[in-house]
Amino acid sequence: MEKTEQYSLLYEQIASLLEGEEDGIARMADAVAAIHEAFGFWWTGFYRVADDPGVKVHGRQLVLGPFQGPVACLRIPFGKGVCGTAWAQKRTIIVPDVEAFPGHIACSSASRSEIVVPLLRDGVVTAVLDIDSDRLDTFDEIDAFWLNKISALL
Ligand code: SME
Repeated sequence: MEKTEQYSLLYEQIASLLEGEEDGIARMADAVAAIHEAFGFWWTGFYRVADDPGVKVHGRQLVLGPFQGPVACLRIPFGKGVCGTAWAQKRTIIVPDVEAFPGHIACSSASRSEIVVPLLRDGVVTAVLDIDSDRLDTFDEIDAFWLNKISALL
């Protein structure tokens, strides 16, 4: 099946899974499981923007949320790694080769390429969706388009 068709079905599946459920964590948990299973990615998960009691200046950090795959870093500061950069720049970041991304945070040495999509509410980033692949150059504009569309459901 072509990638666009796969995403289109996945989008419908997630929209229907989430129908009637208001709890944000539950919605993220099922969305992540559906994405992960559909494509067999290495790691698929959310980091939520949450309070960081230890930091006085910015006061917020990305904190690990619902995910599928191996254990991962629990917290990521603003502007750090691919996730923190997507948060700071409020834009989707596609990384064809993680070793070529300055400051990439390696939660697993098996991760080779990555995409991070920020979730925004009223112009403010509330979370990021992070997907890692164990192959180089996995993600393109088709993934970015559909993952943004799926993220908008959350
Ligand atoms: N690689 C990410 C960190 C999260 S893990 O990949 C699950 C980053 O550089 O922000």
